[in-house]
Amino acid sequence: MKGVVLAGGLGSRLYPLTKITNKHLLPVFDKPMIYYPIQCLVNAGIDDILIVTGGNSAGHFLQLLRNGSDFGLKRLNYAYQEGEGGIADALKLAEHFAEGDSICVVLGDNIIERNIKKAVADFARQGDGAKILLKEVHDPQRFGVATIEGGKVTKIVEKPKEPETNLAVIGIYLYDPTVFEICRTLKPSNRGELEITDVNNEYIRRGNLTYEVLQGWWTDAGTFESLYRSATLVRENGANRMDL
Ligand code: DAU
Repeated sequence: MKGVVLAGGLGSRLYPLTKITNKHLLPVFDKPMIYYPIQCLVNAGIDDILIVTGGNSAGHFLQLLRNGSDFGLKRLNYAYQEGEGGIADALKLAEHFAEGDSICVVLGDNIIERNIKKAVADFARQGDGAKILLKEVHDPQRFGVATIEGGKVTKIVEKPKEPETNLAVIGIYLYDPTVFEICRTLKPSNRGELEITDVNNEYIRRGNLTYEVLQGWWTDAGTFESLYRSATLVRENGANRMDL
């Protein structure tokens, strides 16, 4: 399985912090944000990793990460997303890199306390389709929200005004290679983006999406509040822990 970190987009929710630099280069306690999703993949045993970035300061990723030696990697792969066409638009750039393999996609602003080793192993056994990870949250309106019936995800709604559940779809996704065919069929949403939620709903329609509930804390870091919260969580509990 290969790993993909999506770190494109303009990070406009964090202006003026992101006026000059890329959101994923901002500090989260003692490391740049992008370190956390990369470490998450490495801890799951995934060492062939593509970073998709964009915007003005894309060159800084190369200067910061080089060949991935801070993570014990021999090399890293890079792709550049033109514009801000959405998460599924950024994912399209991973098709050539994936070479027909399954992928584990981590959003560049998602940070977890523990590790996803079990979910990755479970998905390897599953063989095809997709797997998503869910987490109970107090503010589901900010996320993709899953409805579960009979032990299965029956639908996901992106940022619902009146969420049916408090189960957020976190930004870690496991996909078989058909994900790229699905990405090609997508139409831009109301916010003008190709939505990862539309990809996941297509897997639901095809009857091959599974889910697990994530243990330990999870946060995004794409708003002032969540950026502040993520630094506090990392400082007080540590992130990407292998001992839990
Ligand atoms: O954090 C989990 C949530 O992430 C999910 O629950 C939602 O279903 C999913 O849509 C996403 O929601 P956000 O609106 O918070 O995503 P955001 O636009 O903040 O983008 C998250 C990351 O995805 C960002 O840090 C980098 C990457 N991205 C985003 C866009 C819009 C790209 O690589 N390219 C893009 O064009």
